[in-house]
Amino acid sequence: MRRPHVFITRRIPETGVRLLQAACDVTAWDDDLPPSYDTLRAQAQDCDGLLALLTDRIDAALMDACPRLRVVSNMAVGFDNIDIAAATARGILVGNTPDVLTEATADLAFALLLAAARRIPEGVDVVRADRWQTWGPLLLLGRDVHHATLGIVGLGRIGQEMARRARGFSMRLLYADPTRKPAVEAELGIAHVPFEELLRQSDFISIHAPLTDGTRGLFGAQAFAQMKPAAILINTARGPIVQTDALIAALREGTIGGAALDVTDPEPLRADHPLVNLSNCIVVPHIGSATMQARGRMSELAARNILAGLHGALPPACVNPSAAGTGRQAQPRDYEI
Ligand code: GLV
Repeated sequence: MRRPHVFITRRIPETGVRLLQAACDVTAWDDDLPPSYDTLRAQAQDCDGLLALLTDRIDAALMDACPRLRVVSNMAVGFDNIDIAAATARGILVGNTPDVLTEATADLAFALLLAAARRIPEGVDVVRADRWQTWGPLLLLGRDVHHATLGIVGLGRIGQEMARRARGFSMRLLYADPTRKPAVEAELGIAHVPFEELLRQSDFISIHAPLTDGTRGLFGAQAFAQMKPAAILINTARGPIVQTDALIAALREGTIGGAALDVTDPEPLRADHPLVNLSNCIVVPHIGSATMQARGRMSELAARNILAGLHGALPPACVNPSAAGTGRQAQPRDYEI
């Protein structure tokens, strides 16, 4: 019997690759840019396991083009790039990499909050451009972070870690989430409010919700109109939760004070994009989980998800456990692991 074949859609940290190589034949897309959809479909056609990234669209047609595929593992916590219903219908298990990136992502979100509040990129620009003449009583005045109100949209793992960081800065905490979390409210001293109330009361709003039909476009002209004119929006979740054109207008017209974005719609943004060139907007290139430690752990967990799925077991981080024992999972294996 053959060994299972695993396709990895980019170069990833070695930890996970080595784990996979011990039990599987592994091929990887050896380029800094993702394979196109058609290339991925062709490359993955004989694989049993697919280690994918958020830049890969994994839809029903791709799953049908890979008849042996039993498990897809996304090296990301978000999995909006994968058609989960299509995977479940085919008995393909899907894994992701929660927990191991929670704190790294919250660190980045809080770094963006501080950078926007205290205008750090603008300060760096002043020095680099040799425009630093003297100590200026009116130079680059920002906003107090301490004792300001932070509104967290989506109080999941990363949202809660953001709240923990904000507590250290004596911030007042609000959250909006379809699910109330009384134990977390008590532990973190955070109050549940309707979304509109959060918009009205917050000095900073940080998005930590997944991209779903319910959150797509959540921040548009109507939401910005309800925010404080000095409020700063931080997005480390998914770009399409914010309507790009409405955000550009709100930043230009001063409807809101600023934005700090790790994610955008589309991605990537080119250097001539309005969001990149507005002085009240900071954009970084989707690096929320980009620490050596977090990416190493993500690579390892993504590999463990694949190995479990190939063994016919539930991946340690599985987003569709109901696929177990159905469809392709229920077929005899033609590989040995
Ligand atoms: C990154 O955006 C992730 O979902 O892990």
